[in-house]
Amino acid sequence: MIEQRRHLYLKAMGLTRWRRRGDPGSAAEDKTEGVAESAAQVVTGAAPYRADRVEEAVPPGSTGETAGLDWQALQQKVKACNSCGLRAGCTQTVFGVGNPQADLLVIGEAPGADEDRQGEPFVGRAGQLLNAMLLAMGYQREAVFIANILKCRPPDNRDPRPEEALCCEPYLLRQIALIAPKIILAVGRISAQNLLKSDIAVGKLRGRIHRFGESDIPLVVTYHPAYLLRSPEQKGKAWQDLQLALSVLRGDPG
Ligand code: URA
Repeated sequence: MIEQRRHLYLKAMGLTRWRRRGDPGSAAEDKTEGVAESAAQVVTGAAPYRADRVEEAVPPGSTGETAGLDWQALQQKVKACNSCGLRAGCTQTVFGVGNPQADLLVIGEAPGADEDRQGEPFVGRAGQLLNAMLLAMGYQREAVFIANILKCRPPDNRDPRPEEALCCEPYLLRQIALIAPKIILAVGRISAQNLLKSDIAVGKLRGRIHRFGESDIPLVVTYHPAYLLRSPEQKGKAWQDLQLALSVLRGDPG
């Protein structure tokens, strides 16, 4: 049963074809290492409230208007936001989805057309691959929290502008402070560069553990699922990044 499940998750992520029979030492074999444990125990739904997840554990990290807001007030604030001008051209704000007390916080770029319509991040094809990546790690989508650098869809799927990311930043910082995740997974260039305040390419940022801001939350960078759909040969590297994130979640000594 566990074997079957593992096979399905890897297949959904597009990784099974890399396994070669009778070639245990191959790089291809390495790419799937670690799935057995994670797929055997999928983390489902909302985790119970963790007494250690008190807000004081993470500096508020929120500026001005979002400081001190609770989850509900923050949601209302985002809904009413007009500060960067994108709101006029989109259907609705996309606050994020999942468990507000998640250990794992996934941060993408911005809503696309599907996300704008449905009001939920990562619901298109890239979202399906993200779900498969999470399952391969042992997490159902509902067990993690998924957010974006921007809450509103930029027109024609263009990249978020730096000033738009800055306008939206207090909302994301407050979300991070309230969730207080054990790790942040930054998917794609826009997410990684905005969170790390860097202009280094994803290929150079991935593969190691960064620290996020003053709160010092471990942060791992990986490729955006939309990029992985176009460049499936990079999925092995993405899987290595996910395993790195898992090692942090397990509390493995660095
Ligand atoms: N890409 C993102 O970065 N975020 C989404 O919500 C959807 C696609």
